[in-house]
Amino acid sequence: MKLTAMAPQCGVEISGVALATCSDAEMEDIRNAIYEHGVAVFRDQTFSKEDHIKFGRRWGGIDINNYFPLTKDYAEIAIVKKEPDQVVNIGGAWHTDHSYDQIPAMGSVLVARELPPTGGDTMWAHMGAAYDALSDDLKTRIEGLEAFHTADHVYKADGIYAQTDQGATLRGQDLETGAVHPVVIRHPHTGRKLLYVNRAFTINFVGQTPEESRPLLEELFDAALTDDNQCRLQWKPGTVAIWDNRTSWHNAINDYAGHYREMHRITLSGEALAA
Ligand code: SIN
Repeated sequence: MKLTAMAPQCGVEISGVALATCSDAEMEDIRNAIYEHGVAVFRDQTFSKEDHIKFGRRWGGIDINNYFPLTKDYAEIAIVKKEPDQVVNIGGAWHTDHSYDQIPAMGSVLVARELPPTGGDTMWAHMGAAYDALSDDLKTRIEGLEAFHTADHVYKADGIYAQTDQGATLRGQDLETGAVHPVVIRHPHTGRKLLYVNRAFTINFVGQTPEESRPLLEELFDAALTDDNQCRLQWKPGTVAIWDNRTSWHNAINDYAGHYREMHRITLSGEALAA
């Protein structure tokens, strides 16, 4: 296997491995690379829906997505798609998946199934590098803080997506979510300190109202994106990306109006987070 950095502090492209048939030793190297770099990209993969599920199970568990449409044959595979006549895409702003769950999903395995002729890239940002780059003052101000996360304002019947042309295909509009996590977590495997708040789902610090929390949250959201902690993936047929939700944020770029894009996503179960 050959590992090539995608950007100074985020993302790695891994070549010389077939995900569908990789050995346990290769799997271990892939896991460690994703924990370290936040996201790993694999090109030219032959990866059927069955391979996708088999590979996902090798990580531990698969979380069934509560909101996105699921493939007809397999509930484990969620469909992230945008029709040519739709305006809004799924995941088109910086976020980390499932921070609103008590035990947030570890990450995702995303497979390109149908791509627009140009555009539709995905970006990631490394939250370990983001934490390291915070000023000492900001690090002191967030020391020991916990924050509340929810997806209710995004996915509920009166939420953000319901007001858009993605609303009709989303499920789970009656679900309620909410979880408290430390603002700075330690990666469960590497022990690295990671900034764990995101603009999509983090609402307030524990002990403060959303209004009181907003200025510091905004400061953190802005500081979390630096020039060298982001990477950008241009998808091609056969590309698979696997990311770690604790280590990274991601953002699906919505710049392919008039074209269809369909991705298949498996969400990998995670573990409780701690400071
Ligand atoms: C997402 O999982 O947020 C969507 C990623 C993508 O479609 O590129």
